Amino acid sequence: MSGFDRRSFLKASVATAAASALAGCAANAGSSALAPKASGRSVMGLVVPKMAEVRVGLIGVGERGVGFIHHFNNIEGARVTAICDTDPLVIERAKKVMSDAGLAQPGYYFQGKHAYRELLARQDVDIVVIATPWEWHHPMAKEAMLAGKHAFVEVPMGITMEQLWDLVDTAEQTQRNCMMMENVCYGRDELMVLNMVRQGLFGELLHGEAAYIHELRWQMKEIDRKTGSWRTKYHALIDGNLYPTHGLGPVSQYMNINRGDRFDYLTSMSSPSLGRAAYAKREFPADHARNKLNYICGDINTSLIKTVKGRTIMVQHDTTTPRPYSRHNLIQGTNGVFAGFPNRIALEQGGSGSFHHWDQDMTQWYAKYDHPLWLQMGEAAEKNGGHGGMDFLMCWRMIYCLRNGEPLDQDVYDGAAWSAVQPLSAASVADRGNSKDFPDFTRGVWQSAKPLGIVG
Ligand SMILES: NC(=O)c1ccc[n+]([C@@H]2O[C@H](COP(=O)([O-])OP(=O)(O)OC[C@H]3O[C@@H](n4cnc5c(N)ncnc54)[C@H](O)[C@@H]3O)[C@@H](O)[C@H]2O)c1
Repeated sequence: MSGFDRRSFLKASVATAAASALAGCAANAGSSALAPKASGRSVMGLVVPKMAEVRVGLIGVGERGVGFIHHFNNIEGARVTAICDTDPLVIERAKKVMSDAGLAQPGYYFQGKHAYRELLARQDVDIVVIATPWEWHHPMAKEAMLAGKHAFVEVPMGITMEQLWDLVDTAEQTQRNCMMMENVCYGRDELMVLNMVRQGLFGELLHGEAAYIHELRWQMKEIDRKTGSWRTKYHALIDGNLYPTHGLGPVSQYMNINRGDRFDYLTSMSSPSLGRAAYAKREFPADHARNKLNYICGDINTSLIKTVKGRTIMVQHDTTTPRPYSRHNLIQGTNGVFAGFPNRIALEQGGSGSFHHWDQDMTQWYAKYDHPLWLQMGEAAEKNGGHGGMDFLMCWRMIYCLRNGEPLDQDVYDGAAWSAVQPLSAASVADRGNSKDFPDFTRGVWQSAKPLGIVG
C-alpha cells in the first residue's frame, strides 16, 4: 500500500466531514462564506510567459504514465527531461520507450517514495505530469508548484476537500498552473457537442448526465503493481462516487461551470455494495487478502448536482457491475438533446426528423459541427492514439498553450469542482442523501470569467 494507509485516510475523512459540516452550517450565510480567505491572486485565465520549449518531468509512468512519454515525444516543442517512478520495472520500460524513439535519455529517479523531489529540484523541468495513485496527486502537485513548476495532474485532482482547497491556494500563491488532465474533454464527440452547445443548437441548457460506468473488477487481480494494486482499497474506504470527472468534465464545459455558472450543491445515494465481494469470493482463495477487505462502496452511486443557475446534472459511478461502458454524455436543452453511448440526437428545430425519434447517424453532424480543434488535429490525434486520440490532443493542447502564451483549457478551479464530487458524494451518502454544498473555489470569479473559447 503506497504511502497511504487506513489511518491517514480516516484522518483526512474526519477533516473532510468537519469541513462539510462547517460548509453545511455556512450554507445559510451564502456561498461566499464557504471560501476561505485568499492568500494569493486568482489564477482564472492565467497566462504564463511563452516557452520556446516545454521541458517535461513525468512522475508515475505506469499503465497511464507510459502513454505520456510517447505523446510528449511526438509533440513539437516538448522534451521529456526527467522521469520518476518507484517501480524499477516501469523505469526499464520507460528507458526502452526513449531509446526506441531514438531520443536522449532523460534523468531517472526511482529510489524511494520521495525520489520525485529530486526531479522537482531540476532546473530543466518546466512542467510536471503526475500519473501516480490518487493519494499522491495532492502532495506531488503542491510540491511541484512550490518548486516553481506547472503541475499537470491525473484525475481526480485530490481526494479530500482540504487537498482541493490547498491546491487552489497553492496555485494562487505561486501563480502556477495546476491543471487536472481531464482527457475526455478532448474527445471528438465531446468537442463536437461543446461546439453545438455554443452555436445554440440545443437552446437554453437545462440538464446533463455524466458517468463513469466501466466494469473494472478484473483490476482486483493486479496485486503487486498496476492500477488494481492501489485502487481496490478505495472500494473498502469510501462509499460514494470514486471517480467522477470523466463524464462530468465535458458536461461542465457545456454548461460553463466556473465561467458563468457553478455547482451549488449535490445529493447522493449508493446502491448496495455486493459485486466486489462476490467477485473476490468467486476468483480468489478464501484466505486471500481480496477476501478480507470489507467492500463498502455501493456498486452504483448516483448523485444529482444543482447549479447556481438552476440546472441539474446526474452523475453516476459504477466500476463493478457487468454492463457495457458508458459516460452517458447527455445534454438536454429547450430545443433538444444529445446523448452518448451510443451517440444520438433529437431536436425540435433544425433536426433531421421528429424529436420523438433519435437520429443515430452522426455523419451530417460531424460534417457540420466537428470542433475546429478536431478538424485541425484530429488526424494526428487518431494516429498517435490514447482513448481514440483524446490523450494526444490534450497533451498537444497543453504544450500549444504554454508555447503560445495562452491560458489552459482547464484550470485548478475546474479540477477542484469536478473532483469535489467524490468527497461530497461520500458525505451525502453517509447522511441519508442530504444535500452537501460545493464551495466556490473561484471565490466569486466565476461570475465574470469568460466561457471557454471554441479554438482551432
Ligand atoms: N485519464 C485517464 O483516462 C486515466 C486512465 C487511467 C488512469 N488514470 C489515472 O492515472 C493515475 C495512474 O493510474 P495507473 O492506471 O497508471 O496506475 P499504475 O499503478 O499503473 O501507475 C502508477 C505508477 O505510479 C508509481 N508510483 C506510485 N507511488 C509513487 C511515488 N511515490 N513516486 C513515484 N512513482 C510512484 C507506481 O510505481 C506506478 O508505476 C491514476 O490517478 C488514475 O486515476 C487516468
